Amino acid sequence: MAEVLVVPQSTDRKSIYEAITPQIAALIESETDLIANLANIAAVLKEAFQFFWVGFYIKKENELVLGPFQGPLACTRIPFHKGVCGACYTQKEIILVPDVEQFPGHIACSSASKSEIVLPVFDKSGEVAMILDVDSDKLADFDEIDSVGLQGIMSVLAEKLT
Ligand code: SME
Repeated sequence: MAEVLVVPQSTDRKSIYEAITPQIAALIESETDLIANLANIAAVLKEAFQFFWVGFYIKKENELVLGPFQGPLACTRIPFHKGVCGACYTQKEIILVPDVEQFPGHIACSSASKSEIVLPVFDKSGEVAMILDVDSDKLADFDEIDSVGLQGIMSVLAEKLT
């Protein structure tokens, strides 16, 4: 298992995604425990990008429940119809929010959070098993590069789901 994360000395997010995606694949390849893998993915994303908050909400019965994350404490349960995470879950698509104040129903876990990107992670039957939430303390901090980069990492994770 790769125990040292190698991150390029660059501010170019595309090159960082390209460098960390295979390292994440190697990291989770031989580990079957989902929580352990989610914890390491959150840690890698935090270390590589210094995101303000990055973590998972896992679908459990009829709501989303906080999973492994890095950053300030967060709300533990999100109903399917609430917030950006709920919208991502019900619409089954990536949601980019350049300004959280402009998103109706946004759940402010931290008043410092200004923009966010949320991605669904699908199980083998095409259901949303969990979502990845990344928050920034800067406005409009995410774009297509994050969307593509994070989606690549979530595809690697989805391979592990049943
Ligand atoms: N902002 C999210 C809630 C999760 S926290 O940001 C960690 C939302 O509106 O769903």
